[in-house]
Amino acid sequence: EKGTYDHYMLKEIDEQPGVLRKIIEAYSTEEGTLDIAPMIKQAFKQADRLYIIAAGTSYHASLIGKEYFEKLAGLPVEVHISSEFGYNIPLLSKNPLFLFITQSGETADSRQVLVKIKALGYPSITMTNVPGSTLSREADHTLLLYAGPEIAVASTKAYTAQLAVLAITAHAIGGGAQMIDLKKELALTANAIQTLTDMKEEIAKIARELLTDKRNAFFIGRALDYYVSLEGALKLKEISYIQAEGFAGGELKHGTIALIEEGTPVIALATQPSVSPNIRSNVKEVLARGAHACIISMEGNSETDDRLILPYVHPLLTPLVAVIPLQLLSYYESLHRGCDVDKPRNLAKSVTVE
Ligand code: M6R
Repeated sequence: EKGTYDHYMLKEIDEQPGVLRKIIEAYSTEEGTLDIAPMIKQAFKQADRLYIIAAGTSYHASLIGKEYFEKLAGLPVEVHISSEFGYNIPLLSKNPLFLFITQSGETADSRQVLVKIKALGYPSITMTNVPGSTLSREADHTLLLYAGPEIAVASTKAYTAQLAVLAITAHAIGGGAQMIDLKKELALTANAIQTLTDMKEEIAKIARELLTDKRNAFFIGRALDYYVSLEGALKLKEISYIQAEGFAGGELKHGTIALIEEGTPVIALATQPSVSPNIRSNVKEVLARGAHACIISMEGNSETDDRLILPYVHPLLTPLVAVIPLQLLSYYESLHRGCDVDKPRNLAKSVTVE
């Protein structure tokens, strides 16, 4: 039920702090730590390489998942778009493990990969929001998202839930080079998301300043911010029909900068301390060509002209926070343009055809 909300999408954006708290609870042990089922952990421990298979927003979450598995669990990962992998299976490692990330658990492109790798005898896990869904039933194991039903076609709370469960899974396997008190950091992240969902008026204002009457928009970032910029662009395309592109800041000069002209909106994510000077120099490059830039940075790593400063969270968890203003920007621009926010043209909630 939408309750007092005009759209499911806004309701689902607002539910994110609660979803994150629910996930923390669902994966908490009696000892107060976060963990996953022993059998699933075992499957990860036996693998020499993880293959993550997904589509759309779930693919964008997978790219961040790769960083989590590599940094927290020391497990090498490949991320593949399901519709590509299924028809062109790459050379696989000796002991591969397949992780299917799918909110609905019904995506046909992902299912056809599952059918193929099962026939080859490889182990599989589905990470989904829907217990009993096709991919959950057909894989060896399931990791649940606990996001509650997601009705709006544009995925929001399932994405942040996927990031949280990916971090919890990688952390539970452990053994990577990076250590983090994940339970504490995820709780702080839930509070940071809350702070942002309470800043709707400000973010609606940014949407008007930046996107009114614009035909296209660019999202740039580096490291984890690059992956979030892909998701920001997809949200804007889906519900406001603005042609949007997300790309790595350093790639600008290799072609895309030719598209920057007077007033072109460029949303730059600058949450990652390790590449902050680099992304800021990319912003200077587009400003010099007349772009209208909007820098979104994070406390502890911000500068005076930044348009939005996110509350501080652990650098690995910034995607869960940085995506919130991007979801809200798309929502308000879609609303402003009179688009059908929850049911954008040409799209279905679950894509059950290949
Ligand atoms: O249910 P799935 O996660 O497998 O769906 C994958 C994509 O179809 C989905 O994420 C799609 O890109 C959304 N409309 C994005 O908002």
